Amino acid sequence: MKRSTALFLIVVQLFARPVGACVNTRYSRAEEEQITGDVVRLIMGQFAHHGPAFYQEQLRVTAKELAADPDNVEARNDRAVAFLKLARYNEAIAEFEKIERTAPNRYRTHANLGVLHKKLGDFPRAAEHIEKSLAIQPGGHLGLGDYYLRMIRWLGRIKDMRNSGEEPVNFLNIPYAAGSAATAEAAVTNREFLETLIKADHRFTDALFVLGDVLLEAGDTELAYRAYERARMLDHPFSDRIRDRQRQIRKRWEKELPRKEGYILPGTRFLRDEISRETRQAEKWVAAFQAQEAKLLDGSGKADFAVVKSALKEAGVEEPTYLMASFIKGEEINHGGPKENSMWLVGAGLVVLLLIVGGGFLFAVIRRAIGRFTGRDDPLNLRFGHGGTIRFRRGLGGLTRATIRNEHATAEVYLHGGHVTAFQPHGKREVLWMSEDAVFAPPKAIRGGVPVCWPWFGPHPTDPDKPQHGFARNQRWSVNSAEMFADGRTRLSLILRSDAHTRAHWPHVFELELDIIVGRELRLELVSRNTGEEPFVVGGALHTYFALDDINRARVEGLDGREYLDQLDGMARKRQDGAIRVAEEVDRIYVDTEDECRIVDEAADREIHVGKEGSRSTVVWNPWTEKSKRMGDYPDEGYRTMICIETTNADEDLHTVEPGGEHRMVQVISPA
Ligand code: BG6
Repeated sequence: MKRSTALFLIVVQLFARPVGACVNTRYSRAEEEQITGDVVRLIMGQFAHHGPAFYQEQLRVTAKELAADPDNVEARNDRAVAFLKLARYNEAIAEFEKIERTAPNRYRTHANLGVLHKKLGDFPRAAEHIEKSLAIQPGGHLGLGDYYLRMIRWLGRIKDMRNSGEEPVNFLNIPYAAGSAATAEAAVTNREFLETLIKADHRFTDALFVLGDVLLEAGDTELAYRAYERARMLDHPFSDRIRDRQRQIRKRWEKELPRKEGYILPGTRFLRDEISRETRQAEKWVAAFQAQEAKLLDGSGKADFAVVKSALKEAGVEEPTYLMASFIKGEEINHGGPKENSMWLVGAGLVVLLLIVGGGFLFAVIRRAIGRFTGRDDPLNLRFGHGGTIRFRRGLGGLTRATIRNEHATAEVYLHGGHVTAFQPHGKREVLWMSEDAVFAPPKAIRGGVPVCWPWFGPHPTDPDKPQHGFARNQRWSVNSAEMFADGRTRLSLILRSDAHTRAHWPHVFELELDIIVGRELRLELVSRNTGEEPFVVGGALHTYFALDDINRARVEGLDGREYLDQLDGMARKRQDGAIRVAEEVDRIYVDTEDECRIVDEAADREIHVGKEGSRSTVVWNPWTEKSKRMGDYPDEGYRTMICIETTNADEDLHTVEPGGEHRMVQVISPA
């Protein structure tokens, strides 16, 4: 048995004890038993949980039950949880209030209210309810201990920890700097509670960090690395500490690496890509599970996990496996064996193929493979390629990337995020800055270029669990159309439409179009269309990262005399005096301004003009030294060579879009 497999099995044994979780409905206790105890799946988030269809059905079932008996408290609790899961928070609160009036001080009411207020980002209130629930029923959090409460308290402290400059601590209150052993050995660390917490909230990034520490100390470097990587992908606020742990593991691997046997240690990027590919695989499985569940719902409000799983198997959907994570034997990950073996196998395979199918067929196969490899036969190229002016190929992380090359300039665009990552007029230097540590692994947004932030700017106004800067930059967009203009410019139009995924974040029906027009200047038009029946409000940003030679010798002109909200000083309203020069962290929302900005990069001897339409706010951002270090996908020295000038709809610059209506925001980048 492979050493990695043996280690894996040991860890599985350790984790395979039955657990109870934060169980707060009539049906969930039985389901707990069926959720995986397999640690690798927990890390990857690949375990059964109900989809929106299930909760919709719960609403129908409980409506009937309550019509028959309005005092049925259990039914009302299930109904409230269904509202909560469907992000209909006000309706959930109304139901909990009704319960509290008729049957006050119930454990479930307060446990669920704790979850609800955590979702709304009101951590003090969430903590109050969880404390109350534990006082009512001290054993209520069987399998979870006080970990949920610790999680809430930690979430509420992140900002202070960041600002105080003190060594941050994990949610068990142990400083990251004390190392993995301190966490793993602390009396408060309990694997069972940890596992249950991940089941209750698999996006809680610090639980994965702590699990990584526990696994590392148990000697399972592979699973530990994976847990750390997942914590990083989930935007852990202290990702530099994660990088330290990962470096530690890599050092260990380097020592243990059996080089003589021809094995290699794959690079960090390779591992990152590999784990993010597996994450996508896990997400696909969960989506397939929930789709299958939706098909099996029969109006009774029941959906047994085991039944759904076996139906899924029958439908041919296999559970992904993650056993091959032998990071030390790098070549094995890719090719299933050392190089010599795989070369030999490929050679033998080719000979057999030649003998069986003959030269003609082989020729066709090779031709097709070349077509695929070069992207020539890709349906996107056939439909939108414009004779090679636009080329779709696999870019970093295997993601689809369009390269536009015309008589004026070249540009690159990823469909993930509708994200422009390069723009360079011929004879000039690259205009956009890209992070060398950017992660090309959906749903993570790409760092650098032009992220599309939409439908809100910055943190969600009420729910901190929702992605910062909206969700458009985390989604795969589709190609809408492509066009060559008579003057040689090229327009590539991408589109993002509402679907189940977007509705999980934002309940509206929409179409978001990004037109990328590449000429001597880069024109980006972001059009928000309301294709539903209710009006909605949009904010957002074309969050452009500009490349500079030297921030110390650069300035931004055009905002002199304008007022800005200083995001680093509690949104204090201040007035710009002269040009903006950056010599510390800068994070400002300039308000009531439609002005064009000019970036003067003295060291590079160039100016870039940033014009706009449909925007009355502009954000200027540079993370400077400390924040650069805190961001996992941003190089420590990155702040020296970039500045973000963002065309935004931020703060009060929001737009209501009526059904059938649209809002258009434009950014025009002209390197002078
Ligand atoms: C800017 C915000 O627009 O984006 C900053 O004003 C933020 O506060 C920055 O740090 C980067 O955000 P993110 O989510 O891409 O790390």
